[in-house]
Amino acid sequence: MPAEALPPLLTDPARTAALRLLQAAEDGTRPLDPLLTQLDQGVGLGAGMDRRDVRLARQLTLGCLRWRLRLDWIAGQFCSRPVAALSPWARQALRLGLYQLFWLDRVPDRAAVHTSVELAKRFAPPGTANLVNAVLRRAQRERQRIEYPSRDEDPVAHLACRHSHPEWLVARWLDRYGVEMTERLLQANNAEAPLCVRLNPQRARSFDEVAGLAGTALHAAGPVPGAFIAAEADVLLASPACTGGLLLVQDMNAALPAALLAPCPGQRVLDLCAAPGGKTAQLAAAVDGTGLLVSADLSVTRLDGLRRNAARLGLANLNLLAQDARRPALRPGFDRILADVPCSATGVLGRHPDARWRRRPEQLAGLAVRQGAILRAAFALLAPGGALVYSTCSLEPEENAEVVADFLARTPQAELEPARGFFPGQRWADDYIQTIPGREPGDGCFAARLRRRSP
Ligand SMILES: C[S@@+](CC[C@H](N)C(=O)[O-])C[C@H]1O[C@@H](n2cnc3c(N)ncnc32)[C@H](O)[C@@H]1O
Repeated sequence: MPAEALPPLLTDPARTAALRLLQAAEDGTRPLDPLLTQLDQGVGLGAGMDRRDVRLARQLTLGCLRWRLRLDWIAGQFCSRPVAALSPWARQALRLGLYQLFWLDRVPDRAAVHTSVELAKRFAPPGTANLVNAVLRRAQRERQRIEYPSRDEDPVAHLACRHSHPEWLVARWLDRYGVEMTERLLQANNAEAPLCVRLNPQRARSFDEVAGLAGTALHAAGPVPGAFIAAEADVLLASPACTGGLLLVQDMNAALPAALLAPCPGQRVLDLCAAPGGKTAQLAAAVDGTGLLVSADLSVTRLDGLRRNAARLGLANLNLLAQDARRPALRPGFDRILADVPCSATGVLGRHPDARWRRRPEQLAGLAVRQGAILRAAFALLAPGGALVYSTCSLEPEENAEVVADFLARTPQAELEPARGFFPGQRWADDYIQTIPGREPGDGCFAARLRRRSP
């Protein structure tokens, strides 16, 4: 039976919802975000829950997903059977119990064990509750016995297990960044990401105008002016500053690609992979209702979301277009083009704890082929002298510098405009922009600016 179809456990709605969300995410094929949105909106899995329960369900779900590998490792130390061979419902109940035992201060140990045993009785195959009870009680009593893979003998397994990341990602980051930087990156991915918002100049001309409507303190953040971190995320999201479109949710580094493109009023601007529209909002503010702005995306559903966001944000003169960026329906002649391509998103794993388990190393080659095709088609739409920014939220060279270098090697009309010229003195801006979580605040972002030479 699908996780969403089961009736609620009336006595413990938060943990029941978390168990079902974890079960829905277990096979790793479906993104969690739409289910979490339902939870927040009090529909689907969140139906009938109060705000406190929703918050707890969210915290338990994200925590268990983030720490999944380490939780399973701990369970394995006290379980007579391999954890991978247990019923998935039993695994979720164990993860929930262990997460509460070891990560949450405010849940008494007894309650952490008891609630998971009750969930196992209700959802897992007969007899499993005894096993869940035995494992959780031993983990509680014998926590000092827990051993991890040796840091010296097997640093990849050690870091993967301690920081709960897939070994393939840890191995490639260790090769690239070394131990210290990799560990900082892994820690950043496991820290709770703050809510970051951007001032929307179409609705609010100054910070002061917004501050009174936010309901919570806002602190300036990041390299592009206009970004703020909220002291209380829940409060800000429900405030008129957000619901009225004066602020939009956007990571501080996600503003870098549009800032590097820097279109001017009167220019013809194209955003090729535009939904849900964070960067389109920046481009719209830059051209300020003049010239032409076309915002395109392959997904009609995501374009619908962009249309709704644009209405809330008051974006003027927006032209939306459903098209495959590899085979665009537009004629050349754009002054500025943003190609914010689909990617592995390894720079934003902190915001999407389920994504690290969905990614596979063999996906990178296919993504790079698609990204190269979008870049070639985007460049063909540029007017002579026009500029393009190619961007991702990936940390992987196959999707970033290698795509750009391969394109430059085949395209004599293209030249790189080094990012350091636009952001002088910044460690993250050299030939390209590359921010790395744990080294810089905020998400991982890659961006390269290319110009079409004038004939
Ligand atoms: C990284 S997201 C874009 C985020 C967006 N620029 C923003 O700032 O909100 C990538 C987008 O590319 C779209 N996409 C994927 N393949 C595409 C293609 N072949 N052509 C056009 N868009 C595509 C996806 O639907 C997705 O909305």
